Amino acid sequence: MKTLLELITIEVKSAFQEAGYDKEYAKVTLSNRPDLCEYQCNGAMAAAKTYKKAPIMIANDVVSKLQDCSCFEVVEAVNPGFINIKVNPAFVSNYLNQMQADDKLGVEKAKEPKTILVDYGGPNVAKPLHVGHLRSAIIGESVKRILRFKGHKVIGDIHLGDWGYQMGLIITELEKRQPDLVYFDENFEGEYPKEAPFTIGELEEIYPTASAYAKEHEEYREKALQATFLLQNGRRGYRAIWKHIMDVSVADLKKNYENLNVEFDLWKGEADAQKYIPDMVDMLKREGYAYYDEGALVVDVKEETDKKEVPPCMILKSDGAALYDTTDLATLVEREELYRPDEVVYVVDKRQELHFVQVFRCARKTGIVRPETALEFLGFGTVNGKDGKPFKTREGGIMRLESLISEINDEMYKKIIENRTVSEEEARNTAQIVGLAAIKYGDLSNQASKDYIFDVDRFTSFEGNTGPYILYTIVRIKSILSKYQEEHNICDLEIQDAQSEYEKALMLETAKFNDVMDTVYAEKAPHKLCAYIYDLANAFNKFYHDTKILSEENEKKKQGYIALLKLTKEVLEVCIDLLGFEAPKRM
Ligand code: ARG
Repeated sequence: MKTLLELITIEVKSAFQEAGYDKEYAKVTLSNRPDLCEYQCNGAMAAAKTYKKAPIMIANDVVSKLQDCSCFEVVEAVNPGFINIKVNPAFVSNYLNQMQADDKLGVEKAKEPKTILVDYGGPNVAKPLHVGHLRSAIIGESVKRILRFKGHKVIGDIHLGDWGYQMGLIITELEKRQPDLVYFDENFEGEYPKEAPFTIGELEEIYPTASAYAKEHEEYREKALQATFLLQNGRRGYRAIWKHIMDVSVADLKKNYENLNVEFDLWKGEADAQKYIPDMVDMLKREGYAYYDEGALVVDVKEETDKKEVPPCMILKSDGAALYDTTDLATLVEREELYRPDEVVYVVDKRQELHFVQVFRCARKTGIVRPETALEFLGFGTVNGKDGKPFKTREGGIMRLESLISEINDEMYKKIIENRTVSEEEARNTAQIVGLAAIKYGDLSNQASKDYIFDVDRFTSFEGNTGPYILYTIVRIKSILSKYQEEHNICDLEIQDAQSEYEKALMLETAKFNDVMDTVYAEKAPHKLCAYIYDLANAFNKFYHDTKILSEENEKKKQGYIALLKLTKEVLEVCIDLLGFEAPKRM
């Protein structure tokens, strides 16, 4: 469906043309003086120079051509040359009824669906998840859903950090504690046990212990580096431990992401890319892209227009080890081979931007990706505490995701039992659903690239620009609809022409959905979707406080209200689904 603004623009364009002016001047925008009008066109001001006429004359000419247009209730020229527009209530109600009949609520599907791979989440296996990973998961999930809603084929890949030094550390610590394990016997040729020699709880303790110890003990560190190297070069026993670490951690990660309502299509990781490295390195050397610099194999990626120095891409260290650059390049080789994406989007901490500049340039220059493959870095800012510094626990340690979530849930629970009498179980359940919305909305309502302050009190508030406020609004609408439904059928009701200012404002806000989605999609900007549903929720609540809905005596009018509420609820629900959360039954 065309957006409401497009439909209005079409009318105004033809009026410009009929009046003898270039239609390109007919730019219509939302009014910045909602007290005076709903839409405005300032084109006459711009046209004045070209036509050497007073803007008000041009505006008058255009307005005279619009008097009979059925879309408009009021079109007037005001000094010095603005065109102020109020749309006809019938035009809006008609538009909304079409929207209701459309299975995408008026949003048009992409004409040429693309295959888009979204690389997000990016947790490091065996290391605890922290708030940084939370952002990648939340933003990535929403971006994935938005692209999918537009009709693209979208593949979400978690891209596990599963091939690094942390694995060497765990192996080393395990050997220190249990040197007799069969994995450490180099002569062992049999089958390794199926059962892991540790639980997730133990693993969570082993890694930080080993990591701290390695920082203090050089010899131990060397051993861990050596173990990493041996693992990467195929030592059987180490590979078997690696497999155990993966099994145990991935099971735990799946649980964690499920709680976040985040779902990946692919559970691939850095390790999967390793088998593509040898051929890729050969190619880079053979084609003359890579050269040795002080023992390391590198590819130059600097460009003349660079303002800051962009160092070469590091392909192999002097000891032959692969690096982060290497893995990301090889992953692109793999992705080209398996999925041939038209676009790859990376949702990663913006402090990694330089790395991605290097990788993207190298992949392009060396033909690892096709020239038409789009590579996009969607960098996000840091999560800070109220003190403006990176988020910490009360004790000053790194905040773990699980603790953060339970802190929010507890706060939510308190608020829910404060407000009403519900069973313990229902309150806990609701707290979890609303808590997740509080976290996700708190994050997504900020522009991704900006840092933001994680404020538990604000995020969990039922008032203001928060997730719980949005959910509260949806629950309020649902409860009106279900009361109505107790006695009436809710299908096939038609939205009627607006009777009040607040009703019309709500209708115009609801009608904006496809317009907003165009921008949200083009800019991959969930924060604009949040801003929209906040406006929509506000428009609804104003209408709600101003209007007797269920006690309206005129049946036709009441049906119109109910139909409008139903559509508003559907729009809100689609939006929160695109943001990655849902509304509870009651609150
Ligand atoms: N595991 C990385 C980290 O925690 C993030 C991975 C991002 N994705 C990528 N393709 N490099 O920093």
